[in-house]
Amino acid sequence: MLPQLPENPVDRAFSFAQDSQDSSGPPSYIEPSTEDSDEDNYWSDAQSDLTSLASEVTNYVYENGRRYHSYREGKYVLPNDEEEKDRLDLVHHVFTLILRGRYHLAPLVNPQNILDLGTGTGIWALDMADLYPSATVIGNDLSPIQPAFIAPNAQFVIEDFEEDWEYPDNKFDMVHGRTLAGSVKDWPELFAKAYKHLRPGGYFEMQEAPIWCWSDDGSLEPDSALVQFLSILEQESSKANRSLNIVDKLKPWMIDAGFRDVQVRVYKCPWGPWPKDPHLKEIGRYQYINAIESVDSYGLALMTRSVGYTEEQAKIFLAIVKNQLRTKSLHAYNLIYFVYGRKPTEDEL
Ligand SMILES: C[S@@+](CC[C@H](N)C(=O)[O-])C[C@H]1O[C@@H](n2cnc3c(N)ncnc32)[C@H](O)[C@@H]1O
Repeated sequence: MLPQLPENPVDRAFSFAQDSQDSSGPPSYIEPSTEDSDEDNYWSDAQSDLTSLASEVTNYVYENGRRYHSYREGKYVLPNDEEEKDRLDLVHHVFTLILRGRYHLAPLVNPQNILDLGTGTGIWALDMADLYPSATVIGNDLSPIQPAFIAPNAQFVIEDFEEDWEYPDNKFDMVHGRTLAGSVKDWPELFAKAYKHLRPGGYFEMQEAPIWCWSDDGSLEPDSALVQFLSILEQESSKANRSLNIVDKLKPWMIDAGFRDVQVRVYKCPWGPWPKDPHLKEIGRYQYINAIESVDSYGLALMTRSVGYTEEQAKIFLAIVKNQLRTKSLHAYNLIYFVYGRKPTEDEL
């Protein structure tokens, strides 16, 4: 039996994107391509082009055939195995495509110290270390899933960003967090810590996606397995005080923490290569794989630990959701939010 579903919890993310004065709202309509193969799903199309990374992993627990972190066990519900690492690197590619090659939007000038919260495989931190060779880039995480051989100006540490930060106050030129929704219980506290440890004039940037999707042409049916799945994820993560859908609150939290000049940019991200526009089509090719991989990553632990499904029940339900994502007539997309703000200088206070 599925739990009773809440009202659509993330309509506010969409209306916020459209109403927000200073956001570059998403384009109103993505035109689907008419040039496509005859197949009605993507099964027979190109195979995933995921690559594997070698790494040293020392801590793990196994559940439902996936591996999870053991430091602060159970805190974070996504796996940390090779499959998940490949997915995280793919997400980096999608975000970088959306920003047309950029890794951030905050206007950094000659940064010296950068902190990446919940760095995952560390791919963003490593790219930032290459981009800013004079900066030291630190990435922290609960899981030791970062590569061992890295640029000399990058460092990875295993630590819990929900604890007090051991770094000096006013240290960083930039604090960054990406796709942390679901990982954070007390966002205002996290934002206060970012403020405290940034130098005056430094930037805090959050890059987040609601765990939700929309369609403009009605191809996403409100009673579909996919929407049910997304509703369950939101319901269960909210019960644990770790909502997956917080994008509309990022700006007010940043302002409340004291940041100035807070900017919001929102982009549409298609879940499949269905758009006519070549740039969106390319994004959709990768995001399609990410969407399918995300079903188990986000769903397996929550469906079994919180909803109470057996492994078999969860896998059957998740297979139905994944099949819906493979349907070519589905023109779904989600929204990617980039929100950044500046810690004021002493003169401004
Ligand atoms: C969805 S992944 C995003 C990874 C990375 N930010 C990226 O965009 O590629 C979230 C990451 O946050 C880490 N994480 C979750 N809670 C954490 C905590 N309290 N302290 C440190 N890392 C945490 C997880 O282990 C995971 O690697």
